[in-house]
Amino acid sequence: MNRYISDDIIEEVRNRCNIVDIINSYAPLKKTGSTWKTLCPFHQEKTPSFVVTPERQIFHCFGCGKGGDVFRFIMDREGVDFPTAVHLLADRCGVLIPESAPRAGESPQQARENAENRANRRDRLYQLHEKLCTWFEKNLKRDECRQVAEYLQSRELPPEIVAKFRLGAAQDSWDAGMNWCRMEKFTDEELLLAGIVLQSEQDKSRLYDRFRNRLIFPIWNETGKVVAFSARTIEANPQGAKYVNSPETPVFRKSRILYALPLARQAIQQMDYVILCEGQLDVIAMHRAGYENTVAPQGTAFTEEQANMLKRYANRICLAFDSDGAGIKAAMRAVEILLPLDFEVSVIQFPEGRDPDDILRKDGLEKLQGFVSGARDFYHFILDQCKKNHNVANPTGKGRIVGEMVSFISKVSNAAARTSYASQLSLELNIPEQAVFSELNKIRRDNKFRNRRRDNNRQDDTQAPAATQFIDNGNELTRNAEETLLELAITHGTVGQRLSAELPSEMISESPVGKALEVVIQLTVNGEWEHTVTQLSNMLRENPNPTLSRILATKSEYDHKTQEKAVDDCMKVIKRHHLQEEMDKVRAEISSCADADAKRELMKKYQEIFNKTRQLDQAQGASLD
Ligand code: CTP
Ligand code: MN
Repeated sequence: MNRYISDDIIEEVRNRCNIVDIINSYAPLKKTGSTWKTLCPFHQEKTPSFVVTPERQIFHCFGCGKGGDVFRFIMDREGVDFPTAVHLLADRCGVLIPESAPRAGESPQQARENAENRANRRDRLYQLHEKLCTWFEKNLKRDECRQVAEYLQSRELPPEIVAKFRLGAAQDSWDAGMNWCRMEKFTDEELLLAGIVLQSEQDKSRLYDRFRNRLIFPIWNETGKVVAFSARTIEANPQGAKYVNSPETPVFRKSRILYALPLARQAIQQMDYVILCEGQLDVIAMHRAGYENTVAPQGTAFTEEQANMLKRYANRICLAFDSDGAGIKAAMRAVEILLPLDFEVSVIQFPEGRDPDDILRKDGLEKLQGFVSGARDFYHFILDQCKKNHNVANPTGKGRIVGEMVSFISKVSNAAARTSYASQLSLELNIPEQAVFSELNKIRRDNKFRNRRRDNNRQDDTQAPAATQFIDNGNELTRNAEETLLELAITHGTVGQRLSAELPSEMISESPVGKALEVVIQLTVNGEWEHTVTQLSNMLRENPNPTLSRILATKSEYDHKTQEKAVDDCMKVIKRHHLQEEMDKVRAEISSCADADAKRELMKKYQEIFNKTRQLDQAQGASLD
């Protein structure tokens, strides 16, 4: 992926994507006046405080303060960095991003053509996978694949399930798949790129099929295109690996794939609930048992990226991993990933060595349903594990348990939930609440410290900087005045002109709002006022700031007179504050001044400033400088 994207491409993506459509696909928006509203997708709330202002292409939540442009929304919602967000949106609105910045000697035209070539190549890979998938499916009926079909029967999968999951067969041959693909006019280069074939070690020009004598599971990407295969051996005691998977390719990134997501998405959304298994056969068993909201990571451990994908569809998640050592470890890791994302996490505990697929087949539907409905809150699952590893009866063991439990509890993103887990733990282990809380605070402070260090070490602008908090500059009145001026200067092209003439730059604070105000004034003076919103959106994306996003998202319509009066009033407040500060300074100097002459000078200066304040109070909106 090209991480350097030129400004004009970024603007093109921004112009083509309507923020209302994009956000609407995550949270249904309702129109109220000239803005749109919905329940904030970033925090829990009962009445909507999340607004989208199409005119500004800005969103802002009055509840949690998140806000920014369409890129910022995707960054926060999908948990991706800026370049990735641009790519995601570019895909959606059909903008082609050149694979890299034009190299020396490469014209923009060539860069575009090269990008098109790569897009075409990806397209070819999609076609290849789709066709091959159909071929594998049909193979199940062919005599050459009889053994695979027999194995499939032994797994007791009904035909409609085989069709739904598009299961197929690869025959016992080194080149049958390859030859078929060549006949379909795919090049060897394409087959290698897709990972369908491998090069022989001895002779690199000799190719052979990766998938041989195996049951084939096609792997879909989020949009439902086949992008890879996973193939299970049909032998009881296999020589090679139990599963052989496609390698990572230009169309297959394991960390972003969830098996069966296109089949499960609707159910997940409807139920606000997703079940996560370990493998394809378990997912299939769960779907058969009526849990169509089930998916699985594919060929990797569960990743943060996958968690972020799921968060778009559901807030509740249930882990249905194997109960062996590896499964338990994987479940604990998944809990750690999910809690900070504000998922409600539960865990199904199967008997040792059992998985959903074999429970369904050997014990039947009701038994499996029993396990699913018996899923317990993550807290109990982790506590059980801790109790297995340490002795509760012994103080040291108890201490260890508290330490481990609290490290999980500290990851719970909702403060009320976190506190109540901590109380629950203190009750259950019969330990003073205070001890648990002090442990909890220690860990949270530690994490914060580590995160801050990590943020500081980050060189790129992908992570929201820690400086999102308002730098307190002056009192609340001046702060409000600057905010109002900014609001007015964004809305009315004439305000910036007045401010540039009447408000000295040193009176404008160094806060984000002050800086934004300077930007607007500068743009207005340069005759580029119409770029204001774009410029501020960019600033906001790099440094998210609740005040700034609120101001950008709200457009107040004043008549000309009110607007002029408001500018006057605000400037007055700022100037008075500034003069007040100067007077304080001079007064301090006077009291520490020993020299009589110097003191007299200072007194004079003080009087002058004082007169200016008087003037300010009398003259309506008069210029002072
Ligand atoms: N897996 C893999 N490579 C392996 C083993 C497993 O990629 N060598 C992945 C597969 O996606 C598989 C999942 O891990 O679906 C779970 O593996 P496992 O529990 O071993 O397989 P089951 O799905 O239980 O298959 P079966 O019931 O046939 O044993
Ligand atoms: Mn199994």
